[in-house]
Amino acid sequence: SAKYPVIAIDGPAAAGKGTLARQLAEVLELPYLDTGLLYRAVARRVLDRGGDPAHDGPEQARQLVPEDMRRNDLREPEVDQAASIVARHPEVRAALLERQRHFGRARGAVVDGRDIGTVVFPDAPAKFFITASPEVRAQRRYEQRHGQPCTDPTRLAEEVAAINTRDEQDAARAAAPLRPAEDAVMVVTDDLDAAGVLEHVCQILQEKGIIRR
Ligand code: CDP
Ligand code: CDP
Repeated sequence: SAKYPVIAIDGPAAAGKGTLARQLAEVLELPYLDTGLLYRAVARRVLDRGGDPAHDGPEQARQLVPEDMRRNDLREPEVDQAASIVARHPEVRAALLERQRHFGRARGAVVDGRDIGTVVFPDAPAKFFITASPEVRAQRRYEQRHGQPCTDPTRLAEEVAAINTRDEQDAARAAAPLRPAEDAVMVVTDDLDAAGVLEHVCQILQEKGIIRR
């Protein structure tokens, strides 16, 4: 419907949002915005300055520069949790909101995060909520970070616990909690690889007339 469409991709940790969003952006020839990187960059700044993510963040969010999002150390496990904690501050979210909208409005975008379909782009013509069981997502994150599947049940249980803690925190917060938008299409990906998810989503976009054929 919009002249410059925004495709909103939300869901819990390690569901495959970024992988899907990056591929969709290529198919649709739209820019890609990973909004998790914004929260990770704020958390990174807080940690670097010896701050406490539970108390600090708003000032770091306001001072964020593009180079902060290009750092190579934003995907470390300590940043996963710290990002989720700084993301609870309404002032952090407010400081990042206009930045995200400005990016999407310029010429459309595929945008992934937690609140893209609910808060950032509530009028997006297509919204997807990508999910899978915590066990499947923990295995995906492990394999992504270590280059091989996790075969140690104790280690995998730790990864599941970290993912559950973060999802619960993201869903329970008052400001822009993780939840599917009413008009989001749910995609359960336990039994789909990345190519299968892309194919399924492209089919829905064709039905919506966003991809022509
Ligand atoms: O962005 P998000 O945290 O939701 O997940 P991701 O970084 O895109 O994906 C986590 C890992 O799962 C990556 O290594 C993907 O290759 C893999 N994966 C996927 O994205 N989709 C599937 N259906 C299966 C695996
Ligand atoms: O890739 P993964 O799903 O593990 O995490 P991410 O998308 O990089 O997001 C890291 C954290 O940032 C999340 O756990 C959320 O707390 C926060 N976040 C958010 O609150 N809103 C967004 N739009 C994106 C991320």
